[in-house]
Amino acid sequence: MNVLITGAAGFLGQRLARALLKRGHLQSSAGIAEPIDELCLFDVNPPAAVEVDAVLDAGANASGPPQRQSTQIRVRTITGDIRDDALLRSVIDARTTAVFHLSAIVSGTAEADFDLGWSINLDGSRALLEACRHSGVHARVVFTSSVAVYGGKLPALVTDHTPLNPQSSYGAQKAMGELLLTDYNRKGFVDGRILRLPTISVRPGRPNGAASSFASGIIREPLAGEPAQCPVDAQTPLWLLSPARAIEALVHGYELPTEAIGIARAINLPGLSLTPAEMAQALTRVAGTEVAARIEWRPDERVERIVASWPAAWDTSRALTLGFKPDADFDSVIQAYQSEM
Ligand SMILES: NC(=O)c1ccc[n+]([C@@H]2O[C@H](COP(=O)([O-])OP(=O)(O)OC[C@H]3O[C@@H](n4cnc5c(N)ncnc54)[C@H](O)[C@@H]3O)[C@@H](O)[C@H]2O)c1
Repeated sequence: MNVLITGAAGFLGQRLARALLKRGHLQSSAGIAEPIDELCLFDVNPPAAVEVDAVLDAGANASGPPQRQSTQIRVRTITGDIRDDALLRSVIDARTTAVFHLSAIVSGTAEADFDLGWSINLDGSRALLEACRHSGVHARVVFTSSVAVYGGKLPALVTDHTPLNPQSSYGAQKAMGELLLTDYNRKGFVDGRILRLPTISVRPGRPNGAASSFASGIIREPLAGEPAQCPVDAQTPLWLLSPARAIEALVHGYELPTEAIGIARAINLPGLSLTPAEMAQALTRVAGTEVAARIEWRPDERVERIVASWPAAWDTSRALTLGFKPDADFDSVIQAYQSEM
């Protein structure tokens, strides 16, 4: 089978690529391990941004054949725009039976640039699904959605069936992406799976344009000896998942039998509910008071407005029944991040 990852140069895309290379197979609905023949890494950023151990083909372009081969999996890197219909249709063919659609403009950037957000997050998703439809293979498509699809007046516990009411352009774009995929699924063009990811923390590297970027920054920067600003109230509830659990969830979401998901294709992933104050306490326990004291509490109304619109409390029993797993606690998430540093 050929596997396509869009947004493959991104934070989760790179990790997913590494995980699939290591794994070497994905399980079919019937529970049969299907070997991965080709892993296609698609991103608007140059492939050099993707680091997938020694087996990465760093030189291929859209038209060229895979240039290097691991013992089992060909890795093909493509620098291209998710809105490029012709390119997508040349990449997705009858062998592309697995698609992980991760490319996106993140929340803060989508809010700041209205046109860009709608164009990449909605038109790009549509172009991808059209290419899948035209391939005629009923590819299994995993779409990374977000808790930002919820907002407004919310029930005490948000479930998979709580009405979507996004309060940001990013949330609206993800909600429309969900509807698109659900309809392509209903029509039998793809086998769609939508995973609503909590905020992923701790994310390595530099801050990004996501409104939730601080949820990694207030751990990452202090551990690196630098100050970090928390732009929301210390008691703001956040819904968090570690990078490792997120990648496990993407693979598990892919491998679920289609009938286990049923008509409601979107699943809220289980996470940890924590406030920034509780995150700071965890950091104190793991790394000491001096490190946690590097967090500066500086509310920013623009970020607070977006983050406060996200749900506070969740009922993820459906995801748990389907076999998705949350992190045990945030201390262990910080420790896992430290072990990667
Ligand atoms: N990380 C989180 O906390 C989180 C939470 C909820 C949902 N998500 C979703 O998960 C997915 C992956 O998130 P991430 O943290 O890895 O984000 P990321 O920003 O690190 O990666 C996104 C990738 O998409 C690529 N991209 C942007 N525009 C493109 C275009 N026009 N054509 C092709 N590629 C393009 C970027 O170059 C980038 O490599 C995204 O869809 C995001 O919305 C992430």
